[in-house]
Amino acid sequence: MIKYYKQLPSTQTAVKEIAEKNFEEGFIIVAEKQTSSYGRIKRTWNSNVGGLWFSILLKPSIHPDEVSKLTLVLSIALKRSLKEYKVDSEIKWPNDIFVNGRKIAGILVETSVEQDRINWIVAGIGININNKPSKKFADISISLKEVLEKKVDRVEFFTEFLVKIEEIYSSFCSTGFEMFVEEYNMNIAYKNEIVIIDDVYNNIVSGINLGVDKDGRLIVNTKTGFKKIISGTLRKYKI
Ligand code: BTN
Repeated sequence: MIKYYKQLPSTQTAVKEIAEKNFEEGFIIVAEKQTSSYGRIKRTWNSNVGGLWFSILLKPSIHPDEVSKLTLVLSIALKRSLKEYKVDSEIKWPNDIFVNGRKIAGILVETSVEQDRINWIVAGIGININNKPSKKFADISISLKEVLEKKVDRVEFFTEFLVKIEEIYSSFCSTGFEMFVEEYNMNIAYKNEIVIIDDVYNNIVSGINLGVDKDGRLIVNTKTGFKKIISGTLRKYKI
């Protein structure tokens, strides 16, 4: 079921409330505009009219340790959807989508776990489609309209993207992440370049980005050896 709203504080918050009421997986809320939308590490997310802002409720039968891999495969679904529009994109680990070095979309995955069991996952996805990124983010964000130099039919994009999510999600749930490793690494941004990662424990790791392993961890070749990072925020090292 897909519910559409003209305006909401956040589709993410709305689906999380629904999740607590035991709704079935696949429930989606999409909003034309969000007034309190947020991204990873609770950063403000800009959701002007013209973009595609939605959250989806998922209840996979996977171990909580597998959730970080699910976020990676969702980026592949988005990357594949953009490819349908002949747009080449890169995935900045773990799940930001970049085109021409600027961010076109972000994915936020939130989970409720109890005693090693997933109650629910809410995946919130924001894609700059026809919206104009705000002035503050103009040089780091890009929209699909800007890339294609024409307005995009959002319903068509959304429909195709949902088909891709369904395909990828069902393969991931039945066979796991391993079959996606190569595709992920082929499309990862700053591969073999020096990157800096702020991990979840506020440690800073820097080294050469070697891509992800079969467990979805980012392998970084640091001065003190190889490090495998499960989650964090990555940026390119600037001299
Ligand atoms: C990120 O890049 O940090 C993730 C951004 C996720 C934004 C989406 S838009 C739909 C959903 N509602 C929210 O409040 N956030 C997510």
